[in-house]
Amino acid sequence: MLIAQISDLHVKPAGKPAYGRVDTLPMLERAVAHLGRLDPRPDVVLLTGDLVDEGSDGEYALLRRALAPLDRPIYAIPGNHDERAAMRRAFADHAYLPAGGDFLHYVVDDHPVRLVALDTLIPGKVGGAMDAERCAWLDRRLAEAPDRPTLVQMHHPPFAMGISHLDRFALEGAAALGAVLQRHPQVERVVCGHAHRAVSLRWYGTTVSVCPSTAHQFTLDLRPDAPAIWSFEPPGFQLHHWLPGTGLLTHTVQIGDFAAYPCRGAN
Ligand SMILES: [Fe+2]
Ligand SMILES: [Fe+2]
Repeated sequence: MLIAQISDLHVKPAGKPAYGRVDTLPMLERAVAHLGRLDPRPDVVLLTGDLVDEGSDGEYALLRRALAPLDRPIYAIPGNHDERAAMRRAFADHAYLPAGGDFLHYVVDDHPVRLVALDTLIPGKVGGAMDAERCAWLDRRLAEAPDRPTLVQMHHPPFAMGISHLDRFALEGAAALGAVLQRHPQVERVVCGHAHRAVSLRWYGTTVSVCPSTAHQFTLDLRPDAPAIWSFEPPGFQLHHWLPGTGLLTHTVQIGDFAAYPCRGAN
């Protein structure tokens, strides 16, 4: 099973660039075109939050139009830039999303890897939360299928990354989430977004990975007083390849149509 993950699309209308400079919509279109060129094609595409920049219906309409060429099941979760009600309206035809309830949590049981999606959003805040209610939901759902390899998707990484402007808004309830994951060793992976760069860590008995953005990246600055700086570092996505007997293998892919040449002789 080949699982594509794109994250932090931050879609805004053309001519209204993010930070006054990042034209996020054509950048998403390039990501979608790149996914379309993959052979084999991904079986599913995960969207790990910050789907749009300001949570408006208009932005979600642009998002849906840009995603239309992906003729694959798409599983979306909200990030801190998303707005639950507008996202529900925009994805009303996505049967996996719960119609009611406070959170956009769900489980997809249709594939070789079981997909469990978490909603870490706190409206109006940059940081996210896995409070007691959300942890209890996850614990219950993971207990249903202890023998199925499982991928959990959530927007906010649950650990400090050493990038201080991100670490200031750490996930609330991270230790409680870790305790839940530790009870369910079938969780092969937790995939996240939010950090706009690729990061991974062994965490509470599983592996947590963070996907780059399809748009702007946060610069790698490990100084304790690092300012929040973004850049036009090449955007990317991740491909998680489920190989029974091996595990969930992850490739980070830079988005673009790069010149490529055959190797001659030994490589
Ligand atoms: Fe983001
Ligand atoms: Fe975010």
